[in-house]
Amino acid sequence: MNKLSRNDTCWCGSGKKYKKCHMDQDAFISNIEEKVGYSIPRDIMKTDEQVEGIRKSCKLTHDVLEMVGEKIKVGITTDEINTWVHEYTVAHNAYPAPLGYGDFPKSVCTSINDVICHGIPSDTVLKDGDIVNVDVSCILEGYYGDASRMYIIGEASKEAVDLVRVSKECLEKGIEQVKPFNTLGDLGYAIQQHAEGLGYSVVYDYGGHGVGLEFHEEPFVAHIGNKGEGTILLPNMTFTIEPMINIGSPDTAVLDDDWTAVTTDGSLSSQWEHTILVTQTGYEILT
Ligand code: MF3
Ligand code: CO
Repeated sequence: MNKLSRNDTCWCGSGKKYKKCHMDQDAFISNIEEKVGYSIPRDIMKTDEQVEGIRKSCKLTHDVLEMVGEKIKVGITTDEINTWVHEYTVAHNAYPAPLGYGDFPKSVCTSINDVICHGIPSDTVLKDGDIVNVDVSCILEGYYGDASRMYIIGEASKEAVDLVRVSKECLEKGIEQVKPFNTLGDLGYAIQQHAEGLGYSVVYDYGGHGVGLEFHEEPFVAHIGNKGEGTILLPNMTFTIEPMINIGSPDTAVLDDDWTAVTTDGSLSSQWEHTILVTQTGYEILT
């Protein structure tokens, strides 16, 4: 790309003048690049206007998960969860991102017990003692939000309840590492330390991702890693952290439906997810 002048149209497609759009951010990134010695994609940081749109979509995503939490119970089917999520989302002028993503057939992912992620809602009935992840992603005014929570159905075993708690702690440990100039390796390291320190394993076949203007953007967010390695965090980046933690092996397999990811040893898996904004001083949990 040739160097843009202040009054040229910005490269990002907004139609605005460069000086009113990405000019300051580009200068900021150029500065960092000189220090770190490698190049950083120019679209890794959102504009303030984009952040505002993403924030609204994430708020709706949060509200959907709250709504699910009020209704989910023993005896309902995952198809019913799908209907709740779909109807609530469209009633709020948004679209459920999973529906028609690739060939995903439903509006939400529901992942029970040994299902790691991407479970497809069906006539499966939730029973006492199940642990289920509900993963909601909204598109509101073109902006994406993505979050998931675990729900414990009735009374679950101590090992299931402990797993759900530890996986939530893993998300929190990851989030605590988010601030400008830390790296994705810092947060992967923190998550891996916590999980493995307590005898659990971290799924490495799936990870978090940039999110906001698209459902899945760069960078890939691994939930394992080494301190100081990987992509550097900069203000106005938005990405998910969504560690999948297993009681047994971290290995994964995909069922014949081409979506449902399960543990290969049948052990329980648990996941919590937030969309996170990197701020000037740390982070904001958008969902
Ligand atoms: N919401 C999932 C994530 O956290 C992605 C689901 S893709 C789908 O990245 F097609 F299964 F919905
Ligand atoms: Co996600």
